[in-house]
Amino acid sequence: DFRPVILAGGSGTRFWPRSRKARAKQVLTLDGERSMIQRTVDRLQPLAKPEDVWVITNDLLSDTICGQLEVVPDEQVVCEPAARNTAPAAGLAALIIERSNPDAVLGMFPADHVIADEPGFRAVIERAIQVAASGETMVVLGVTPTRPETGYGYIETGHVLEGGMARVRRFTEKPNQERAEQFVAAGNYHWNSGIFIWSARTLANAVREHLPEMTPLLEEIAAAFGTPRFQEVFAENYPKCENISVDYAILEPRSAKGEHHSNLYCLPANFGWNDLGSWAALFEHQHGMQVNTDEQGNVSESTGSLAFDARNNYVFAPNKFVALVGVDDLVVVETEDAVLITSRHHSQDVGKVVKELAARG
Ligand code: GDD
Ligand code: MG
Repeated sequence: DFRPVILAGGSGTRFWPRSRKARAKQVLTLDGERSMIQRTVDRLQPLAKPEDVWVITNDLLSDTICGQLEVVPDEQVVCEPAARNTAPAAGLAALIIERSNPDAVLGMFPADHVIADEPGFRAVIERAIQVAASGETMVVLGVTPTRPETGYGYIETGHVLEGGMARVRRFTEKPNQERAEQFVAAGNYHWNSGIFIWSARTLANAVREHLPEMTPLLEEIAAAFGTPRFQEVFAENYPKCENISVDYAILEPRSAKGEHHSNLYCLPANFGWNDLGSWAALFEHQHGMQVNTDEQGNVSESTGSLAFDARNNYVFAPNKFVALVGVDDLVVVETEDAVLITSRHHSQDVGKVVKELAARG
C-alpha cells in the first residue's frame, strides 16, 4: 500500500523571471510538455494510482496544482496556512495517513526534480518500498556526487548489505565547501536526493521522537482532518510549528544514533537525477539530453536561432527568433514583463533579484 507524498510548497526563486510566487518551479513546464509536478506524478505510474497521491503545498499554488493534477482528489492537496519547511509538512502527512493506515508506505518526493531514466527510477522505488514495508526502516535514495555541492545533504554509508543497499553512518545537511570537498573525495558519500521511503508509522514515530514540541500541534491537525474544523485547527496550530527541514530535524539527529541503531538505509539511485536548482542546471540537463541543443552546444527555446562563434549559451525566448554572436556561457530568459541576462556561472545568484524586488515591494 504505497502513498506518494509530494512536497510542493517551496518558493523556488532561482528560476526568475519565469518563476513567481504563484508560479513556482513545480508548476512550470521547464522541460518538455508537462509541468514538474505533473511529471513527478506521471513517473510514479504504475507504482501508485493518482487517487493515492498526496500533495502538501500552499494557497498560492493549490489552484494551479489541483488543475494540473485533475485525478488527485482535491482533499489530498493539503494547503499549509504558512510555510514551515519540510519537517512539519512531511510530519503532518504521516500523522494523517497513520490514523487510517499505519502500515502504508509513504514516499516523500520533491516536486521539482528531473529524472532521466524513469524505469530505473521505478525499479529503485519498488525495492525501497519492499524494504520500508518490512519494519521500522527509513530508506533514503542517494546519488553519486559529481562536485562538492554545498546545497545538498550528504549521506555517509557504512556497512554494505546485499544489492548495494548500505547502512547510513552519518547524514550531514548542507556542509560547508571544505567538508563537501572532503566528502566527495572520500568515496563513500552520496548526495541526498530528497526522496525518502518509510511507513506512515515509522515517520510518525520519528516525528514524536525528534520533534516533541510540534507533535501535539500536528496530532491535533491530523485528528481534525476531514472534519469541518480542519481549516480552523490547521490555521491555528500550523504556524506555531518550528520552521525546519526533515534533513535537519530527523535525518541528522537520527544518524547520530550510529549506523546500527538509526534504522537508516541508503539505496544508491543513479537514474539521472537532477534537482534543477538553477538555470545552469536546466542548461546542463537539456544539453546532456540534446534537447533544443545546436552543434555549438547552445540550448535555446525560441521560434528559431542562429549562432556565430557562440557556445554553450542558454536562451529562453519562446516567441522570438534568437541570434547569438560571439558570446559564450550566457543565460538569457525573456518573459512578458522581464528579461534576465546572466552567465551560467552566476545563475545561482538570481535569487538576489527576487529578494531585492520583494524588498522594494
Ligand atoms: N509543503 C511544503 N512546505 N513543501 C516545501 C516547503 C514547505 O514549507 N519547503 C520546501 N518544500 C518542498 C520544495 O518544494 C521541494 O520540492 C522540497 O520540499 C525540498 O525543498 P527545498 O527547499 O528544495 O530543499 P533543498 O533543495 O534546500 O534541500 C533538500 O533537497 C536536496 C536535494 O534536492 C534536502 O533534502 C537536501 O538534503 C537534498 O540534497
Ligand atoms: Mg531543492
